[in-house]
Amino acid sequence: MPQVLTIKVKVSHRSYDIKIGNNILADFPHQLNEIVQGRQIIIVSNSIVYGYYGQQVKEGLIAQGFDVLVYLVPDGEEYKTWQEAENILTILLEAGFNRDAVIAALGGGVIGDLAGFAASIYQRGIDLVQLPTTLLAQVDSSVGGKVAVNHPLGKNMIGAFHQPLGVWTDLKALNTLPEREWIAGLAEVVKYGAIWDEEFFAYLEENVQHIKNRDLDVVREIIGRSCQIKAEIVGQDEKEQGIRAMLNFGHTIGHALEKVTEYKIYRHGEAVAIGMVYAAKIAVYIEMCSVQIVEKLEILLRKLGLPVEMPDVSMDLILESLYLDKKVRKKELVFVLPRKIGQVEIIRGITPQTIKDCLDRPRNI
Ligand code: NAD
Ligand code: GLY
Repeated sequence: MPQVLTIKVKVSHRSYDIKIGNNILADFPHQLNEIVQGRQIIIVSNSIVYGYYGQQVKEGLIAQGFDVLVYLVPDGEEYKTWQEAENILTILLEAGFNRDAVIAALGGGVIGDLAGFAASIYQRGIDLVQLPTTLLAQVDSSVGGKVAVNHPLGKNMIGAFHQPLGVWTDLKALNTLPEREWIAGLAEVVKYGAIWDEEFFAYLEENVQHIKNRDLDVVREIIGRSCQIKAEIVGQDEKEQGIRAMLNFGHTIGHALEKVTEYKIYRHGEAVAIGMVYAAKIAVYIEMCSVQIVEKLEILLRKLGLPVEMPDVSMDLILESLYLDKKVRKKELVFVLPRKIGQVEIIRGITPQTIKDCLDRPRNI
């Protein structure tokens, strides 16, 4: 496999590259300069990530002739807010950044979504580059152009589609990623196999130990294949009018679980892992797939260290928050349910009673 993998994402009459490599952040300033030639740029990050990787990126950009600003957001989902987006916009205005300016998001999904949202609205939209540093951001949030901030009444409720100029995915950044964040990101990797690619799912099953050890070749393979699948789906349905919704497998119940537990118990990927298992249980209940699908998902997720059981939470609260989700259409819940490993369908009209039956019966439905 080549040292640097390049994956093209085709969107709205243009395309951009995801470049995946070990220490690719060292090449990023030069490569960006070839695209946008020494413009004003702001690096948006947080102090943890900037402490590891920021100086290298900043110095590289200055050496290429960029006019560089840095803005550090406090760490945490609670700062993915309108207020922080406004702070970024204020800095850009005060520094006299114009419509040719670029925002570089250096961090996990929180930074990518927030900085991306600021880029989508500053002077009606400026260029964005994504430098994802968590597994979740590398396989999911940095690709496909969804950017957003949270509102007190709902997560990701204020947002836009704003595709980046490019994504530079540095595998080396994963060396400093805490174990829990690594494992949480793996849920999204499993999702790609489950919704799109049975062979990839089997590859994950066969390589659990290498994945847990973060062996570089296997890490490159799982990130590369995940990005290829996301690029394929986004290329066919950029604005989620159809098949892009498949990427929400496990997210309907996952989001409800995160909300009911006030975003304090589960990392996003952990809730998605539980959500995928229960989506599969619903599929078994409505006779859409065999119970072996639930078992295969459960076994792989468990081996990777992810949770698979519904905790003791109020079913009424889960149902209430399911109906507040963005995925509700005409008051009907929209679920992504598996037919088999590698194939899912978007199903409307699952009743609250079905959900209750499946969620209340933790095992062997
Ligand atoms: P995160 O951005 O909060 O990062 C997790 C933690 O890891 C943070 O403490 C961060 O400082 C730290 N960190 C990041 N990179 C590190 C590194 N290389 N070394 C050490 N520490 C590092 O969380 P996340 O899981 O990356 O992203 C979650 C967010 O992504 C949520 O807000 C979610 O809504 C969003 N998201 C967006 C999309 C999309 O399509 N836009 C898709 C999925 C999730
Ligand atoms: N993370 C889901 C999507 O990008 O559509």
